[in-house]
Amino acid sequence: MKEGVTKPLALAIFAAAFGSSLLFGWNIGVINQPQNVMGHWIRDVKCKRLMDADAPRDDTYEKWCDKRPVENDTIKMYPPDQAPKNEIDPGFGDVAPNPDLNALWSFIVAIFAIGGLIGALASGWLVTKYGRKGTLMMNTGLGLIAVALLAFPYLARSYEMLFVGRFLMGVNCGINSGIPAMYFSEISPLHLRGAIGSLHQLFITIGIFLSSIFGLYPILGSEDLWPVLFALAVVPIIVQLMTLPLVPESPKYLYLDKGDEAAAQRALAKFRGTEDNHEEMAEMKKESDQIKSEPKVTIRDVFTNKFLRKVTIIAILLMVMQQFSGINAIMFYSTRIFNSCGLTAEAASYATIGLNAVNVAMTLVSVVLVEKAGRKTLLLVGFIGMGASMVLLAVFMLQTGAGKVSETEPIVENPRKVWAAPLSAVMVFLGVIFFATGPGSVPWFMISEMVPQSSRGIATSLAVGTNWLCTFIVGQAFPPLQEALKENVFFVFASILALSALYTWKFVPETKGKTLEQVRAELQQTL
Ligand code: GLC
Repeated sequence: MKEGVTKPLALAIFAAAFGSSLLFGWNIGVINQPQNVMGHWIRDVKCKRLMDADAPRDDTYEKWCDKRPVENDTIKMYPPDQAPKNEIDPGFGDVAPNPDLNALWSFIVAIFAIGGLIGALASGWLVTKYGRKGTLMMNTGLGLIAVALLAFPYLARSYEMLFVGRFLMGVNCGINSGIPAMYFSEISPLHLRGAIGSLHQLFITIGIFLSSIFGLYPILGSEDLWPVLFALAVVPIIVQLMTLPLVPESPKYLYLDKGDEAAAQRALAKFRGTEDNHEEMAEMKKESDQIKSEPKVTIRDVFTNKFLRKVTIIAILLMVMQQFSGINAIMFYSTRIFNSCGLTAEAASYATIGLNAVNVAMTLVSVVLVEKAGRKTLLLVGFIGMGASMVLLAVFMLQTGAGKVSETEPIVENPRKVWAAPLSAVMVFLGVIFFATGPGSVPWFMISEMVPQSSRGIATSLAVGTNWLCTFIVGQAFPPLQEALKENVFFVFASILALSALYTWKFVPETKGKTLEQVRAELQQTL
């Protein structure tokens, strides 16, 4: 008989997905919409400090307090209709560009990724020591501190608090990014492992989507409401605090890491809704015996043992391929890309929300597809489809004006642009649709389907850490690269996607419906 989804299993999935995956996605997206408004606020704080200190009216003063009318010694806020809606705006809107402000903003973006990298690297050790559920529980504490630091800088008039808050939130998200998928694949029945594992990515995309809506200027993205936007992150954390204690720890962790067979049996009985779990217990026992017969795995073994090296490298490369597909060039800079496809700033902002919605919808489809078509097929379809979309995006964008598309020049003036601009926008959507088919979700949970328990923590740390590092690299490199290569930058992503498809086809195993033992046996034949 095939086990279904019992209530405790559903609650465990909800607790981790809503409290961790969604929070991670929320934080990826949350600073996109209000970034100009926040840029203005930083400028105001700086200027107010200079005024309070009676600073001389020199260049520095000009830089931070330029041109804006100052009434009764307070800085005039920008009227809403002047608030720039452009997602990335090097000049932060209607005032003169200020390189120092841009540098501060890049720092806020970068520090989140650095925190994420640290959190991801630490998570492998944490999950082995404190368990999957245990680590997520501890992480809520860090999340609460981060939210407090992010919600109050406005009142405290301190953007330094924002830096520390973004860094701690990064560490929290680094920890949150790898563990849910691991927990899910360890607690799910074999035939549902992929579908349940994909829920991690589904909730990430929901988090990105929700933050792009709540962050809109008329909702919470305005001058005085953005702190509320940051404070909202407390909701998934509180929900997690209320639900996670009610669900069992991963039976695999209890058995294989803690050596507590009885506790594992109890946890498994709760998840499956029956005491009769002989097959799964036998499977765990086999793995436990194997672990006991081998010396404890160290980070060195992960690179010297042929099999462990192979699966760890595949897990790491899946993350590299996911990130260098260029997905975050699209996610972070979609408004700007839509702008250069010929959309107005406002239309581009709404197109971004549409894009995030499509990302959620397609990820939902992939949750169903993954148990039918298999992981490898979905990865291949995703990489090839996304590659083709990137080629066509570059081709159409070149048609719209060979990299000289101006946001102010109406597209209708150039008849060539009329058909190419909407087609370019369609290609951006298609790119995301193909990404969501497989490359979005599969890399997160496939680690736990290939890597044995003994080195799963280390492999997860390395792979998820790589994911963060690559997100950081793409995020920092895309604007200058696009500046240098113009539309051709999408050919670069297309080439990487072609190589990714080739690598996946040749080296990535199909793990659908297979136990770790079976995957191992298969991979060992090719060593
Ligand atoms: C994956 C990626 C993340 C990206 C998201 C978009 O979760 O790891 O970087 O932003 O997909 O859906």
